[in-house]
Amino acid sequence: MATVTMEKLTKVYPNGQKVVHGLDLTIGEGEFVVLVGPSGCGKTTTLRMVAGLEEISDGTLRIGDRVVNDLPARERDIAMVFQNYALYPHMTVAQNIGFALKLKKTSKDEIARAVTNAADVLGLTEQLDKKPGQLSGGQRQRVAMGRAIVRDPAVFLMDEPLSNLDANLRVKMRAEVSRVQRKLGVATLYVTHDQVEAMTMGDRVAVMHAGDLQQCDHPQTLYSKPANLFVASFIGSPSMNIFEAGLSEDGTYFAMGGQRLELDPMGYSENLRKYRGKKIAVGFRPENLSVATTAQGAAKLKVQIDLVEALGSELLVYFRFDAKAIKVAGAIAEEEDLGDIEVGVEKGAGIGLGVARIPPYYQFQQGQTLELNLDTQRIHFFDIATGDAI
Ligand SMILES: Nc1ncnc2c1ncn2[C@@H]1O[C@H](COP(=O)(O)OP(=O)(O)OP(=O)(O)O)[C@@H](O)[C@H]1O
Ligand SMILES: [Mg+2]
Repeated sequence: MATVTMEKLTKVYPNGQKVVHGLDLTIGEGEFVVLVGPSGCGKTTTLRMVAGLEEISDGTLRIGDRVVNDLPARERDIAMVFQNYALYPHMTVAQNIGFALKLKKTSKDEIARAVTNAADVLGLTEQLDKKPGQLSGGQRQRVAMGRAIVRDPAVFLMDEPLSNLDANLRVKMRAEVSRVQRKLGVATLYVTHDQVEAMTMGDRVAVMHAGDLQQCDHPQTLYSKPANLFVASFIGSPSMNIFEAGLSEDGTYFAMGGQRLELDPMGYSENLRKYRGKKIAVGFRPENLSVATTAQGAAKLKVQIDLVEALGSELLVYFRFDAKAIKVAGAIAEEEDLGDIEVGVEKGAGIGLGVARIPPYYQFQQGQTLELNLDTQRIHFFDIATGDAI
């Protein structure tokens, strides 16, 4: 059992590229911490520094009480599981799992015991005599986990271990990996670019962007109290709606495009008062919009329906209105990503596209106008210049 402490961990590659900027992150005993962020933000680099596969340019890395910056990988008591877990095709599952121990000249009895235990934890007991070619993708993944488990390490490091699996299997293996990690109680740093994976697996989730840690919190806190615009847009699917708005001089309402939305007098912080008469960014999640009734504590938003996606259990209603949408560079889902990842806030072209999660029993027409209630208790406010939550 051990903890991992990163203090101002920094990586500058020999070509001068600075990709990790003074990362402060601690993984507690037995804790499962997920490092998530868009492609290229420095996740693998961070993991490799912890593993000892990449030199640490600056900062301190501790495992337990020991500073391990200069300790070679094999002396760090760490086991890694990668995305490409090349199993040895000519060896049986048992031989694959026990291989690291064999290299360490562990006794046959001890290897057999460790392999049996790992197979038991992973549900591989029936497969021990098979070759990797006879296994399903998920079973192969488990063998890769088994190889890490038998080493009984102080720390697990996993870099996108599920990304080669098909979508269904990935969902199953998420739960499996979590279960095994909890059972073994080994401090784990798990890297993924998939926010759903991060949210469902992590005790805590560390969101990284362009080499900087944005926020590290329990998944639900990350969702309900994002520290800045990046986290707000990165976590949640569909993403949070974020628009430019002006807070009134008296602080009782804000204006988005041509619309005026009353604020709940109790619903906002002392901090927000400082922004009276100023431009701010206003964010609200798709589920905090509902078809307008006379419900209390809600502001009304008039929109035009663009597209409705029926998901069975709910409708995703995409709409437009005349406010300026704020898109956070690099925070949008991969398939929509235009490739360029920049730091900072990129203002939309004023189209004002948003999305609402609506119960499935409504029927809508494209182009129809609609009044939505916005739950004013659930609005997020951000400084438009810094992106920080207000
Ligand atoms: N050996 C290297 N030399 C120079 N630059 C590198 C090296 N390895 C990675 N980089 C750069 O460092 C940045 C971070 O890379 P890293 O692999 O850590 O990203 P990542 O967050 O793991 O991304 P992905 O989600 O795509 O795996 C990238 O811009 C990458 O091009
Ligand atoms: Mg990577």
